[in-house]
Amino acid sequence: MIAGGPAVIAPGEFRAFAGQFVTGVTVVTTRDGDGQFQGLTMNAVSALSLTPPLYLICVERNATTLSPLLESRLFGLSILSKEQSTIARLFATKNRNKFRDCPFVVGRTGVPLIAGALGHIECSIAQTIEAGDHIVVIGQVEHADIKGGEPLVYFRSAFLDLGGEPLGEARALAESP
Ligand SMILES: Cc1cc2nc3c(=O)[nH]c(=O)nc-3n(C[C@H](O)[C@H](O)[C@H](O)COP(=O)(O)O)c2cc1C
Repeated sequence: MIAGGPAVIAPGEFRAFAGQFVTGVTVVTTRDGDGQFQGLTMNAVSALSLTPPLYLICVERNATTLSPLLESRLFGLSILSKEQSTIARLFATKNRNKFRDCPFVVGRTGVPLIAGALGHIECSIAQTIEAGDHIVVIGQVEHADIKGGEPLVYFRSAFLDLGGEPLGEARALAESP
């Protein structure tokens, strides 16, 4: 468990700092014990190791998707395209029917993967680390596929395309740093 020391920066300021870092946008998915699909929008993700292939995601403790993810020990990750800002907004809500309004396919491990994404990976959980209000989840990559296309970009709480053009409503969304 990484608890950390006293706060030296206000949460709003820390979020503003984190917002200066441009990222892509992903949807991380899993299935619970009843076979129901769960998922959330995430940008605190990174490739971690090539040999073995490992991928790292940082999930907020309060996320509903966290416990099914830890129980199934599986997750899928879909990299969203610039056409998918509506899906990014949908999966950033607490809506319990996210998959009703989003086209998806079921991957080889049984997790849902967002259709039309730039690429997908399916991972089995290799390690978890408790860190402040997030859990760092390290996944061993079991399958990967690449479709290509133009990515969805996230910068200063707005969805953009690679040319910097706003995609839809540019409002503050991210609750995680
Ligand atoms: C662009 C963007 C990036 C986000 N990144 C993360 C993240 O990396 N980790 C996280 O736990 N939540 C992240 N969120 C917030 C979750 O998507 C949001 O809390 C969601 O409602 C959680 O859904 P759930 O509780 O149904 O699992 C992000 C939101 C947005 C809009």
